[in-house]
Amino acid sequence: MTHTHDPQTLHRANEDDVPALIAFDDFCYAYDETPALRHITLSISAGDSVVLMGDNGSGKSTLLKAICGLLFAQRGSYRFDGQEVTERSMRDLAFSKRLHQRIGFIFQDSDAQLFCASVEDEVAFGPRQMGLGEQEVAQRVEDACRLLGIEKLRKRAPYALSGGEKKRVAIACILSMNPDAFCFDEPLAGLDASTRLWLLGFLKQLHAAGKTLVIATHDQSLADEVADYFVYMGDHHGYEDRPHVHINQ
Ligand SMILES: Nc1ncnc2c1ncn2[C@@H]1O[C@H](COP(=O)(O)OP(=O)(O)OP(=O)(O)O)[C@@H](O)[C@H]1O
Ligand SMILES: [Mg+2]
Repeated sequence: MTHTHDPQTLHRANEDDVPALIAFDDFCYAYDETPALRHITLSISAGDSVVLMGDNGSGKSTLLKAICGLLFAQRGSYRFDGQEVTERSMRDLAFSKRLHQRIGFIFQDSDAQLFCASVEDEVAFGPRQMGLGEQEVAQRVEDACRLLGIEKLRKRAPYALSGGEKKRVAIACILSMNPDAFCFDEPLAGLDASTRLWLLGFLKQLHAAGKTLVIATHDQSLADEVADYFVYMGDHHGYEDRPHVHINQ
């Protein structure tokens, strides 16, 4: 594993000794016998916008799942805001709820994320899980639907929406929980030009609002527009002249 740059030196958020929000130390993970993440050491500070790049199968989606507590270290460790995330710690319902509230995951495939009968139930699901009162839930649903421009879809069934509409709903579901960090897996895949442009602007707004973004993408223009720095997985060497962390797995 090689770090060609240390992310600690790359971003303004680090200048004030901000502790890492997301910290991997020698993290390893294999699906069955297939190693997907090997000896990952990486730290991301609150407010960073980081783009994960690398070839198909290089482990980007797997790393996002680890960040969100959907899979766990088989060797090494992962800490979110100083607290180790393990299969055991996630069995504590209060801990896992808190983690899922603080880090939102927008899947590449929105169908994997949407399961309620209506869009407004879907967007309300997270805030209800957080135990908020119905008045606060209603306010959050309204705010998220307005920000995502999906007010007209509120009564619709999520499964019957178009791909781009589903993506907006999936983002609204996360936004309504007001997390600190957002993980996006290939957010622009399958979107038309105007929706891409809108999403690009939205990601910049989230970043400007101080949210932490971790985005896996093959889209160079997205990476160029939103990344404070890049994380390259695997053997690919690009952007040598840009702030980047290279993880040679
Ligand atoms: N559910 C799974 N079961 C078994 N192996 C898996 C599973 N998911 C991923 N893998 C394997 O883990 C490795 C990393 O996959 P991952 O999906 O993280 O790559 P990726 O960088 O996101 O690729 P892509 O650019 O194609 O989205 C690959 O070798 C893949 O075949
Ligand atoms: Mg992937």
